[in-house]
Amino acid sequence: MSGARRRYARVAGTGSYVPERVLDNAHFERLVNTNDAWIRKRTGIQRRHVVAPGETTLDMCERAARRALEAAGLEAGSLDLIVVGTTTPDLVFPNMGVLLQERIGAGPCMAFSLEAACAGFVYALSLAETMIVGGRAQRALVVGGEMLSRITDYEDRSTCILFGDGAGAVVLEAADEPGILAVRTGADGRYQHLLHTTAGLGRHFDRLPHEGHYIRMQGSEVFRKAVTVLSDLAVGLVADAGLRPEDIDWLVPHQANIRIIQAIAEKLALPEDKIIITIEEHGNTSTASVPLALDTGVRAERIRRGQTVLCAAFGGGFTWGGALFRY
Ligand code: UT7
Repeated sequence: MSGARRRYARVAGTGSYVPERVLDNAHFERLVNTNDAWIRKRTGIQRRHVVAPGETTLDMCERAARRALEAAGLEAGSLDLIVVGTTTPDLVFPNMGVLLQERIGAGPCMAFSLEAACAGFVYALSLAETMIVGGRAQRALVVGGEMLSRITDYEDRSTCILFGDGAGAVVLEAADEPGILAVRTGADGRYQHLLHTTAGLGRHFDRLPHEGHYIRMQGSEVFRKAVTVLSDLAVGLVADAGLRPEDIDWLVPHQANIRIIQAIAEKLALPEDKIIITIEEHGNTSTASVPLALDTGVRAERIRRGQTVLCAAFGGGFTWGGALFRY
């Protein structure tokens, strides 16, 4: 035995924010050929929040970050790493980590953003944990923020009913005890055609000015893959941590579809009262989904210190990631 103490990363605080403006299902009945009953039954969604004119991903990330710092009892100036997961950054560059660093007065720490669709927050958490465990950082702010309303085609009934805006944040800090017990991440670019945006700087750039860029999804195929990947991810994380499914106190899944969430719960034999479900209120907020649900569970005093929490996300790419931690 070397006697060297292992270093872990623990969740010191969480925060989130959703914009005030709410679109209910009736709103979409007026826009496209859909109805409230179909949306509730097939997705579980009742409402989603969307940004007000002038409000952006950065504004939401700032609010979520400030709340997470307050919950952690830490000053922004004590951070030595900021990672923001987003597919809808305010700018291509400077990156969202840097923009957020300036907003909250956290300089001069390392700050960057990453794009891994709905798995972005878990990817960011994984990187931050690695840096903390490796001794390169002591305190990290990890954020997932999204204004999907900017890339939603409100004439496409198969996608427009799904998406909302919001942000969630977690402050991670070094600790002598876990903390994060297991992390898994993965991607498979062969499925990019099933869930993607229509244009970008390097593809169909000429279409951007008049057609915009929108999310396109082949829903039922994504659904099938999401169930398989997320179930395997959850089972794998439990095994990696040396736990049994019954040791999991809370499942905090990506909120894309209530039926996907139920399928994962069934695989783990988890009762519904051990799952944080926010989809009815938030819809699918991509990379904001997991931290938003986590903070909702914490602030409702459902998730308590010492309990085990399993997060899992899946999205475009495909990309996926999960983390199991003791809160
Ligand atoms: O966050 C990233 C990961 N995303 C996901 O995991 C999402 C995965 N996919 C899903 O959640 C579901 O596939 C959807 C909610 C997107 C769609 O539900 P579904 O049960 O898979 O429906 P479907 O695409 O198989 O379509 C069934 C029917 C079709 O009509 P026909 O062809 O049977 O006549 C659609 O045209 O439902 C129709 N439909 C709608 N009907 C009313 C599709 N969208 C709507 C709608 N309202 N909004």
